[in-house]
Amino acid sequence: MKHKLLILTALAVVCACAAGKKDTGVRVVEDFNFDWKFSLGDSPEFEFTSEELAAYKAERDAAWAIQRQVLIDQQKAQMEQRRKAMRAAGGNAQTANPFAMQMMLREPERPVDPHPTHFTESASAGWAAPGFDDSSWRSLHLPHDWAIEGEFSKDAPSGTGSGALPGGIGWYRKHFTTPQAERVFVEFDGVFMNSTVYVNGKPVGTRPYGYSSFSYDITDFLNPRGEDNVMAVRCDNADQPNSRWYAGCGIYRNVRLVSVANQHVAYSGTYVTTPEITDKSAKVSIETTIENCADRADAVVTQTIFDPKGKKVASVSDNVVLEKGRNVANTSLNVKSPNLWSIESPNLYTVVTEISVGGRTVDNYDTTFGFRTIEWDPMKGFFLNGKPVKMLGVCLHHDMGCIGSAVHYRALERELGTLKEMGCNAIRTSHNPPAPELLELCDKMGLLVMDEAFDMWRKRKTTFDYSRFFDEWHVADLQDFVRRDRNHPSIIMWSIANEIGEQGDSIDDNLQNLSLAEANLLLNFVDHTNPDGPFENNPNVLLTRHMAQLVRDVDSTRFVSAGCNGVGPTNNLFRSGALDAYGFNYHPQGYDKCLEYFPGKRMFGSETASAISSRGEYMMPSSSKEKHPARIFGEDPNPTHQCSGYDSWSVPWGNLHEEAWIPIRDRDFIAGTFIWTGFDYLGEPTPYGWPSRSSYFGIVDLAGFPKDVYWMYQSEWTDKTVLHLFPHWNWKEGDNVDVWAYYNNADEVELFLNGKSLGKKSKTSDVLHAEWLEVPFEPGKIEVVSYKNGKVVAKDSRVTAGEPVSIKLTPDRKTISADGYDLCYVTVELVDKNGNAVPDNGTMLHFEVRGNGELFGVDNGNAADSLSLKGKDKALFNGKALAVIRSIKDNPGNVKLTVSSNYGVSDLVVKCK
Ligand code: GAL
Repeated sequence: MKHKLLILTALAVVCACAAGKKDTGVRVVEDFNFDWKFSLGDSPEFEFTSEELAAYKAERDAAWAIQRQVLIDQQKAQMEQRRKAMRAAGGNAQTANPFAMQMMLREPERPVDPHPTHFTESASAGWAAPGFDDSSWRSLHLPHDWAIEGEFSKDAPSGTGSGALPGGIGWYRKHFTTPQAERVFVEFDGVFMNSTVYVNGKPVGTRPYGYSSFSYDITDFLNPRGEDNVMAVRCDNADQPNSRWYAGCGIYRNVRLVSVANQHVAYSGTYVTTPEITDKSAKVSIETTIENCADRADAVVTQTIFDPKGKKVASVSDNVVLEKGRNVANTSLNVKSPNLWSIESPNLYTVVTEISVGGRTVDNYDTTFGFRTIEWDPMKGFFLNGKPVKMLGVCLHHDMGCIGSAVHYRALERELGTLKEMGCNAIRTSHNPPAPELLELCDKMGLLVMDEAFDMWRKRKTTFDYSRFFDEWHVADLQDFVRRDRNHPSIIMWSIANEIGEQGDSIDDNLQNLSLAEANLLLNFVDHTNPDGPFENNPNVLLTRHMAQLVRDVDSTRFVSAGCNGVGPTNNLFRSGALDAYGFNYHPQGYDKCLEYFPGKRMFGSETASAISSRGEYMMPSSSKEKHPARIFGEDPNPTHQCSGYDSWSVPWGNLHEEAWIPIRDRDFIAGTFIWTGFDYLGEPTPYGWPSRSSYFGIVDLAGFPKDVYWMYQSEWTDKTVLHLFPHWNWKEGDNVDVWAYYNNADEVELFLNGKSLGKKSKTSDVLHAEWLEVPFEPGKIEVVSYKNGKVVAKDSRVTAGEPVSIKLTPDRKTISADGYDLCYVTVELVDKNGNAVPDNGTMLHFEVRGNGELFGVDNGNAADSLSLKGKDKALFNGKALAVIRSIKDNPGNVKLTVSSNYGVSDLVVKCK
């Protein structure tokens, strides 16, 4: 497992022991997730009297009066320019008339004010204060997400779009002893959101974007060595809605305390590239940023490369003068016969960077990297190590179902494992920087990554989203993200945006969010003379170039892309010329036109499908293709709030799975697909509203149970033999049932009902399943047999299950690690007297966990189930439910899960070692 109480590099262990582990100055990375105290709510000095609130309101009104005037003046200036241009071009009296244009002035929309926040310079009192008594607060360990612990609610300010779960403000506090080190840093992989970190009552730093990783040097805030300190973290997620999906709340990613010497590798301080790779050898270039917090020093920097088996394969030592402050050391090495990183064999190498000063090792720092080449031919597609590879990808949001957004390595491993098994070879981190563990796993498992930064720039999508922080923070957020991730071999492209408002070319809109100075600057070199022509230098074209350049300044070895709506040439992001690869979201019917629009450009389906389905729900006729049923019918057509499990429903802007995949399969110039989405996620329950609160887009449901279409992809994307029959065979006498099968490696499939053949069917190049429509139900066994050249290849069947008699519990693993992080996923089903799972059952279950583990979440994949995902009760949904058990740190032994229902009680014992 990834987490250990103390993570030391191999060399650090040697050095620390040799020097008695005392002031060796060697890097010590401590897991800082345990022993935190937590409280919801806010510290008194952040709470407001009515006078303060009145003053705040008056201040906001005054600020808005100024901003409003600026926006009106901007509109007038643009109109004046247009009027002149139209006059010059001989425009008609109406459009060129100054009064007519004045009448087109729009009242600017006033943004909703954020809730008032004091950013006190010093919080010597209140919840940040070292002496504050937090004994009544809850004890917990990180990563933690308080939103998932809440109840789903129709009235949640986040709305169902963001998961109908709470937001709010929360505080964390932790006591710790000053380490024996020259410099001490705290590293946060992500805090949602608006975090302020205090050490011993003093604010250390603030970070609004909840997906950014950051590090603070806290040395000067600490008490003398060996003494107690208090770290407090305030997370402010009160302004809602601020996201189009569920984001979670709190310190939801890992935290480390890093103790180093004065001379040390900076945070995200190595950049390892492989500029030349042949079969015989490869060149490795290493750029190392070294911070020196003491006086100028002579140092030796040694870079040693270890191969995937841990064998040393190259080493170089350079003398470096370390000035006080930041230093950059560049070097290169050669590695013989490199083992390439690939999807099939994800070979990983490690560089150990050792700094020594005066003969003493002062730092050791590990960087994982891989050897691989990436090329992308506009007509032939993407090439990995010289071989063509279609990106067979999915988009993923960052929550992990019933455990919310609290990052757990095992949860991600299970998710990615399920997708890899389907034949997926690529992940898009829609639409934000992921947890570092996701990238670590993609490196290890051989998955390509489209690493994405933002869902919006300046233009808002929800009231309180990142657009309010963009101007001040986008440089730091974008560059820190690329710097953190640029050594991962899995990452093949950066995405600077998803469907941002700036794609449009309406100049009026584009200017709305600029400061006066920026607007003036841009207005002075924008060509407005032809409002219908290409704005070569319009603000959003310039902004796109600026964003792409920010990425290239930190990493120039990967493609820069973005996910854009539609495939038209007027898109500012495309016409900026700044993107290496054009990502199209949806509209496959436009792909061929793109050859005309964007000759010589690299193109791919950055977002595809958006088909909607619920696992185990079958709405007939399966041939009736529905686009966004609820909205089309004007009322909710389905009170169950479910979507059909046949691949027959999609949103209007999207496509069914087969419809979306075929045009990409058939075009080499569309380098790949990223299906919306691999797994269901909390939030965005299109096409329904409350009580729906999670998505229907997933190929796999929220609990991690694959929907039937999973096997369509497996049959198309892998060579392993697939034959998957659906639906289940528990219907009523008189029902006519549409029967589908996904298959491969065969010419045809025959359906048998109780041994009687119902005919052979084949799929075609345009229909990727075999189907037998309106099969009259009779109880018994329905079976499909696939044949190749007349020989049986595979069989799959469903039987009519009888009355449930007991609960069956199936763990994914029988032994887990007693580290406080490891998880056991248990599938719960009811079975009949012959052991057949009952597929159409919705029985309520009660869960209890005793012993050396805790119940960490329950789910069933039902997007419209409003019972908590952290409770002890959950009904089966179409025959399945899930319990997640988490181990307890340093508490080995047995954990017992007991599940009870009307059909009896079942136990399962899992070992924690
Ligand atoms: C896309 C968007 C995604 C998601 C999807 C649902 O337009 O980029 O974030 O909202 O639609 O169909």
